[in-house]
Order: sequence, then structure tokens, then C-alpha cells
Amino acid sequence: MILAELAAIGRHRKTGGYRRSAWSDADMELREWFAGAAGAPGLELVEDGNGNQFAFWRASAGGPDQSALLIGSHLDSVPDGGAYDGPLGVVSAFAAIDHLRRTGFEPARPVVVGNFTDEEGARFGIACVGSQLATGALNPDQVLGRTDADGRTLAEVVRARGRDPEAFGPSAVLDSIGTFVELHVEQGRSLVTSDSAVGVASAIWPHGRWRLDFAGEANHAGATAMADRHDPMLAYAATVLAARELATRAGARATFGRLRVEPNGVNAIPSRVRSWLDARAETEPALQALVQEIRLRAEDAAAADGTAVELTQESMSPAVRFDARLRDRLATQLDAPVLPTGAGHDAGVLSARMPAAMLFVRNPTGVSHSPAEFASDDDCTAGVDALAAVIRELAPAEDSLRSFDGLRTGQAQGTQ
Ligand code: GLV
Ligand code: MN
Ligand code: MN
Repeated sequence: MILAELAAIGRHRKTGGYRRSAWSDADMELREWFAGAAGAPGLELVEDGNGNQFAFWRASAGGPDQSALLIGSHLDSVPDGGAYDGPLGVVSAFAAIDHLRRTGFEPARPVVVGNFTDEEGARFGIACVGSQLATGALNPDQVLGRTDADGRTLAEVVRARGRDPEAFGPSAVLDSIGTFVELHVEQGRSLVTSDSAVGVASAIWPHGRWRLDFAGEANHAGATAMADRHDPMLAYAATVLAARELATRAGARATFGRLRVEPNGVNAIPSRVRSWLDARAETEPALQALVQEIRLRAEDAAAADGTAVELTQESMSPAVRFDARLRDRLATQLDAPVLPTGAGHDAGVLSARMPAAMLFVRNPTGVSHSPAEFASDDDCTAGVDALAAVIRELAPAEDSLRSFDGLRTGQAQGTQ
């Protein structure tokens, strides 16, 4: 599996996890790998103004006519992420094209491999930055001024990487794309119990990120009586427990995975605890209600200690229901189960603009965003085979173009 070519890039020696945040050295190395793969004869590399990379197969047939089939995913990772989340979709896309070319298959429509920049939002806090900028869902002004942990803005970072932040915004490349199929490692255990190596996505839960700033009063850990403290860590801790209780009760998800404590001294009561909540639920009203309840519990806990809390929404991804016709067509073609996901994806972003679908490859651990994420070689091969079959179906030879046109007509009629 060509995933092995990427195995050493950005891998942390101690944790075994991948540290491939957007525009990091590791990400740049991955982007070079992509450019190399896109440099194969018959492919053509295009990078849009947002840093999204595309490798066109049959570029000559491209143009602003929405005729192309996009496949691919992302190459960046969360801190200490697994090897498969993102890269599996990109390498499988190149492998599927390679396989089809060896069999002499020539698509009548362009097929394009994509690498969407900064899908995870690990560095600047907003997920799916590349795809959201490309579709216009995100305005460059909303993201260019955001800072990473070192205080560098995204604008500074991309400039240092030889890109022009002024070029950020809606991508003309998408004008040539009519359909997106993203292959991705499964981030749950549905396929493990279904006996299928590959599944098809039905929906993505709405999800978002909120920053909770708990403010108190720094003081001496030994000299300050317990009754005299205004310790923001207490309200933070109470809020973590409340979020767990409320999300469990609502059948939703709530996670505090990131925390910054000031001044961060062992023997000092903190002056400020800055924390980030990732919350997800089946519907948007359920998600809003959950966050509202968490906010109220945080405010009550803060008030009890004479501290304060402020909640700021940093990002929001609406619910996605993937194009039903495309979903059913692929599920029937592949004889694959259909399953929802609680994870966010670029395919969800693009689904607002074109028919989009996802193929999930079985992950026996069910674990993701961790080095324990896994897919067997056999299942990865099954994923590549499924993707090759999907390319044959959606970017067929000349004589079966009618079914593809039917799909695009379906989009115009609002089948999403
Ligand atoms: C992306 O992987 C997300 O759902 O956070
Ligand atoms: Mn991920
Ligand atoms: Mn992913």
C-alpha cells in the first residue's frame, strides 16, 4: 500500500502519532509528495488560491462545466493522529487511478484527486478551512487573522510558505467539478460488526467548537485559604463533568480536548483557564440546546466561586445529508452498508454545492484521532477496488455518459 511512502512523515518517535498540522514542515513534505504523485504522466497538478491541491487526470477535458469527478481527502492530522484519517483517501485515489490506467480504462470525464488543506483545524481552530474557503462557506477574513499556539497568524504562515493570502477565497477549480466522492477510514465500529470492508455514508452530525474562558484570581497555592480563593479551575472542572452528563442524557457528544492554563504554575492558583469544547448532536436544535445547557452550568459553577466564564463560538458545521441518489447508487453498486458519522469531512462541506458521497473503510479498532487507528491491507485494497468501481460508474467511458448526466440533473432538481 503506498500509504507506506508517507509512514515516516510527521511521525512522533515517542507517541507513534502523526503531527501534521496545516502548513507545518510535515504538511509541506506531504504536499510535495502529492505534487510528485500528480507529476505522473497523464496527470496535471493544480493548486488553488487556498492551497488545496488537485491532480487532474484528463485535464484537457476540464473546464468550468462541472463535468469532473473529484476523489481524495486531506493529508493534515490532529496532534498525534493516526496514519489513515485523510491520507487513506488521497493514496487510495491515486491507487485507483493507477489501477484503472493499467487496465487501459480511459474516463470520458476528468477525474481529479484532491488534497484539501487544513481539514482538521488543529492549528488555527477552524476545521475544513481549505474546502470551506473554496466553496465560499468561509470568508478569508474569518480565518486569516487567526493565530496558532505560537501567536503566528494564518496569513503570516502561508506567506512564509510562499503563498499569497490575498488569493484566499472561492476556488475556480470547483467550477469544473460535478461530484465528490471521499474515501475515509471509518471512525467507529459499525463495519466491524457488519462484515463489510467498505460502507457508504448517509449523514454527518452537525458539530461545532466553542471556547470557554474561565477567569479568576491568581494567588499563592500555600498561603491562600481554601475559602478565600477565586479559582477558575473549579468551574472548568465542574463544566467538564456537566458536559459529560448533559451530552450522555441527550445522546449527543461533548469533549474538552484542549486546555490552556495561566500562569500554568504548579504552586499558583490560576488566573485564567481557557478551554475548548467540541460538541456534536444529531440535529442542530439538539446541539444548540446542549451548548446552551453547558453554558448555564458553567455560569452557575463560576458564580459559586466568584469567578466568571465567557463562551465564544469558534466554528459551526451544519448537519449534512449526503445526496440520496448518489448514496443509494453507490451502496447498491458496492453492495455496501449505509452508515452515519459523527466526524466532520470536506465531503460534507462540498455537499452543499454538488452531489457528494463518502466511502468508509473498516477500522477494526474503531479508534481514530489516535495512533491506534487502523485498517488492514486487505481492507485498504478493498477500498481502492471500490473507488475504482465508483470511478467506472461515475466517470464512465463515452457510451454510458447518460447515467452521469442524470446524476447532475438530479442535483439541479434538489435531490440533496
Ligand atoms: C474531523 O475529523 C472532525 O470531525 O473533527
Ligand atoms: Mn479527523
Ligand atoms: Mn479526516
